[in-house]
Order: sequence, then C-alpha cells, then structure tokens
Amino acid sequence: MGIFLVKGETRLKGQVTISGAKNAVLAVLPATLMADGETIIENAPSIDDVRVMGQILAALGAEVKENTSGFRINPRGIRNPSPPFELVKKVRASSLFLGPLLSRFGRAEIAMPGGCDIGPRPLDQHIKGLHALGAEIKIEEGFIKAQTKGLVGAPIYLDITSVGATENIMMAACLAKGTTTIENAAKEPEIIDVANLLNAMGADVKGAGTDVIRIRGVKSLRGVNHTIIPDRIEAGTFMIAAAATRGEVIIRDVIPEHLEPVIAKLREAGVQVEVGDDSIRVTGREEPYPALDLKTLPYPGFPTDLQSPMTALLTTAQGTSIIKENIFENRFRHVSQFERMGAKIKVEGRTAVVEGVEQISGAQVKATDLRAGAALIIAGLMARGETRIHGAQHIDRGYEHITAKFNSLGAQITREPSNLPGE
Ligand code: EPZ
Repeated sequence: MGIFLVKGETRLKGQVTISGAKNAVLAVLPATLMADGETIIENAPSIDDVRVMGQILAALGAEVKENTSGFRINPRGIRNPSPPFELVKKVRASSLFLGPLLSRFGRAEIAMPGGCDIGPRPLDQHIKGLHALGAEIKIEEGFIKAQTKGLVGAPIYLDITSVGATENIMMAACLAKGTTTIENAAKEPEIIDVANLLNAMGADVKGAGTDVIRIRGVKSLRGVNHTIIPDRIEAGTFMIAAAATRGEVIIRDVIPEHLEPVIAKLREAGVQVEVGDDSIRVTGREEPYPALDLKTLPYPGFPTDLQSPMTALLTTAQGTSIIKENIFENRFRHVSQFERMGAKIKVEGRTAVVEGVEQISGAQVKATDLRAGAALIIAGLMARGETRIHGAQHIDRGYEHITAKFNSLGAQITREPSNLPGE
C-alpha cells in the first residue's frame, strides 16, 4: 500500500539478481493440485499475487507451506473445487484453476476474475477450449460453473494467441482420455516452464513453445520438485531502467534468449548490451536516444508488459516515437501520468505517439497497473526533482523487493503510507 517517493536524476550502477517468473509460478501453482503427491516449488517470487494463489490452494484443502524460496504443496486434502470468492477476486490468474480442478475433480466453480486496468480480459478462449474437451460451462451471477463426466482429448484452435487459455487447456488435457492438440498456441517461455513441470509429473506434453502443442492424456500425475525460470519481464524492466538512467547495470540470473526482443530494441537505441551465459550488462549512453517505433506482439515479439517501461525511456528521446499496443485494448493509462511529468504523448486507439522532450520533471502520479507502476519508477529516476507514485500496491503485486533492488543500484526510493482512501 502507499506511496513510492523517487528521487530524480539518478544513474543506476551495480548489479541486480532477478527473481523467479511471476507469470510462470501463477500457472505452476494450480497445476500442483493435479498431482497425487507433494510438489516442491523453488525460486517462486515472494509477491502478493503468488501469495494469494497459495492461499487459494490452502482454501481448497491442500496443505501449503510457504518458505523463503518457494512452496511445498500437498493436494491430497483437496475436497472443495470452489475457491473462496474474496480470494479469487484478488488475482486474475485464479482463472488458471479451472483446467486443473476440472481434470482432477470433474467440476470447478470460479468467480469471474475482475477485469483490470488494461482491458476487459475475457475468458472466451479458455471456455472454448475446455468445452471442446467435454466440459459443460455456464456463467451465472459472475461465476464460471464447469463440470464434466470426464474430459476427452480434442483438436482445439485458439482464435486468439492467449497465454492463459493455452495454459488452462494444456493442464486440463493432461488427464483427459486421448490426445489434444492446441493450435495457434501462445509460445511464451512461461508456458514451456509449465509444460516442463507437467512432463516431470508424468504428463505427455510435446511442442510447448511452438504454436502447436500436443498432449496425450495419462492416468495420473505425481508430485515433483520444480524450479521456476527467471522473470524475463523483471529483467527487462531493470535493463530499460539502466538505459533510461544512463547507468551501468549487470542483471544476473536471467535466460538471455528470453530477452531477445528487449536486447534488440535497446541496441537499436544505441544502448550497449553485453550478453553473458546467465547475465546481461546494460550501459546507457550520454547523448539522447533516437526515437524508436515499437510494436507489442505475442512472444517472441516485444512483450506488452514492457511497453510502458519503454515508453518512459522514449519520453526524452530525440524525435517522435510510435508505439503500437497490439495485445491489450487499454494499456496506455500510464500516458496521462507521464504527461503530468511533462512528457508529450498523444494516444490514438492502440497507438501512442511520443514526441521526445528535453527532460521530464517529478510530479504526483498514480500507478494504474503493475507494469505502469514500474514505468513510473523509471520515469521518476529520470526526472528532475522528486516523484510521488500513488498505488504502490500494484507494484508490490508483481515485483519482489523492488525498492531494495532499485536502491541497491543507487536509487533513492522510500515509501510512505497514503492518506487517500483505498490506497
Ligand atoms: C498473461 O495474461 C500475463 N499474465 C500478462 O501479464 C501478459 O501481459 C499477457 O499474458 C500477454 O503476454 C499471466 O501470465 C498471469 P492473454 P493473460 O490471455 O493470459 C485477449 C503482467 O503484467 N483474450 O495472452 O491474461 C486478452 O483480452 C500481466 O504480468 C481474449 O480475448 O493474457 C488480451 O487482449 C499483465 N479471450 C489478449 O487476448 C481470452 O479467452 C492476450 O491475453 C483470453 C485472452
């Protein structure tokens, strides 16, 4: 909760270690309930969204032990396939319990997760896929009620390359009778991480990371030990922050190939990026960056989750940058906040036109979503003077120890409680 206070004109210097991937662990946790035994998850980031998913598992009846590096989950005690409303509403990824609950218990009742500030976030592709596997699904009074006499493998074509729908269907298909193919599947690295967990449990998943995934149903799954992959979005956030503050930062514990689009974009801007086996050194440049064109696309395109951090960097580029947000309908809410800091940005539909200015200035701003919050920290580090970022709770949802990590690089970020209601 509360406010981040960010001191401006700060160059980041030093090294930072990246945590486990939020968007991998948010799918891995529901998958653990499909096993007959205990699963140990290592390298899970200690962030609010992950904590809530662990609480949902416990509310279903699983034995959940959380420690500093992750979770120990024993699903044997699960009886109730309907997680509590007040928990489900807190995190959109709770929709990822649908597939696992259906495949293990034949029914599931999940509250429609709240939309959020980046668009309506429908679940029609999740429902289309689970229905194809033989689930009857109704939406009543804001709840998704699903049941099946037994899932049967089927060919499924996703109309939209949806990360969550790919994960939900892939998990549900593991214990279905027969073979399932998912065409036009999302290819994000987090999906490969979930598939690796499922295969270690005894599933038969082939093709994760390509646009066709084939799953042969098996009888049962066993508990395993699994280490979550590094968070490419957190890593990209620090890479962009290092460049934007004209600093020099080594980002450790990364899988460089997951960051290809970010490396390419920063190099296009003249940023020095040196790639090691599991680290990346980013050295910003003194003179202003050139304006860039940016398009967000499904992996391996430029990630939508790094669109707002990149926009922050481009507010002081030389010339006019064009940013096209192709994934979400409404992911420019950070623009009005950057304008309060003196940025010149015009939004037309899914395109933002950024006219570079000499410098931006600190101001009172508000984080509207997790990534916009991180982008405002970057803008605050770039700006003249101090920036006060309201809505800090958004940022805590997805970035582990973000204040400590930035401050270890020379930032001066403090936090104070907010006296505004609901903050
Ligand atoms: C995942 O969300 C990530 N979240 C998001 O990260 C990420 O931005 C997104 O993938 C895209 O990469 C997690 O993995 C927990 P989608 P998800 O289904 O699965 C539309 C962050 O900041 N769509 O790939 O919800 C949808 O509206 C978060 O870490 C349908 O129309 O994303 C969107 O426009 C934000 N029908 C597009 O597809 C559906 O059934 C992509 O959504 C599903 C999605």
